[in-house]
Amino acid sequence: MLRQGDKATIKTRDGKTRDGKPHSDSSRIDLRDGEGPAPGDAVATARGVSKIYGEGETEVRALDDIDVDFQAGKLTAIMGPSGSGKSTLLHCMAGLDSVTTGEVRIGGELISELTDKRLTLLRRQRMGFIFQAFNLVPTLSAEENILLPLLLGGRKPDEQWEAQVIESLGLGDRLHHLPDELSGGQQQRVAVARALVTKPEIIFADEPTGNLDSTAGQEVLGFLRRAVDEWQQTVVMVTHDPGAASYADLVIFLRDGKVTGHLLDPTAEAVFDRIKALEV
Ligand SMILES: Nc1ncnc2c1ncn2[C@@H]1O[C@H](COP(=O)(O)OP(=O)(O)OP(=O)(O)O)[C@@H](O)[C@H]1O
Ligand SMILES: [Mg+2]
Repeated sequence: MLRQGDKATIKTRDGKTRDGKPHSDSSRIDLRDGEGPAPGDAVATARGVSKIYGEGETEVRALDDIDVDFQAGKLTAIMGPSGSGKSTLLHCMAGLDSVTTGEVRIGGELISELTDKRLTLLRRQRMGFIFQAFNLVPTLSAEENILLPLLLGGRKPDEQWEAQVIESLGLGDRLHHLPDELSGGQQQRVAVARALVTKPEIIFADEPTGNLDSTAGQEVLGFLRRAVDEWQQTVVMVTHDPGAASYADLVIFLRDGKVTGHLLDPTAEAVFDRIKALEV
């Protein structure tokens, strides 16, 4: 498991930070404004979580007695074969789906005890989402999509923060375009900006690079990594790709709805070997 107080700075093998730039302390912004868990604390936890779909002969145990902690200020990848329960785990953690048994907590709140209204507010204010299919609103511009979670919550954008997110994602000259006027990589960068703009406690990403070519995918992964390293963001990402998983601090492996292992500071090769062993 991760050690308390671990620093999440990821270096490439030549000792540089992944984006090749030195860290600038003046650009460090603590997204939690001094509140919330310290790095290394768990932002989200699952205890004894099972999820059963259907009944009788059609019953599927998508999650089978899962215990997992997602640490603050870390990028955690979830990997496993198709049907192993990765998306189900993400959806249950985010309160998008209910658990059959067990407890899920986000920032200490037991989400099964929240009313639908409180859960919606929790998701809107304290979680960010990035999906494989981008899920942008087609009739809204890039900027309107980015600001949508704030507008829905009746919150005023923090203009300085919005500008910093847009600039770091290289979206400055695309803000007035509609999603179908953007490339896939640009659309996913808009989705990353939308997830970051609320300064959430945790971002859930389900195969965020699944629809992108490798260059656009690496860009998105680089931004997620930066959000963790420079802005102390917490990211949980489902992926099939060992290269994508190597951007994480920790990989959690699932099979048949169970956690089968962890890999700390993963390399793509180590992840690939573990996946091969799981699929035998
Ligand atoms: N709404 C549902 N109703 C019934 N069964 C479901 C439902 N959602 C998921 N399942 C089943 O639960 C299991 C886990 O599904 P899940 O989507 O979590 O897998 P996954 O690991 O994300 O797979 P993939 O890599 O293909 O996306 C599968 O057997 C799936 O068929
Ligand atoms: Mg899935």
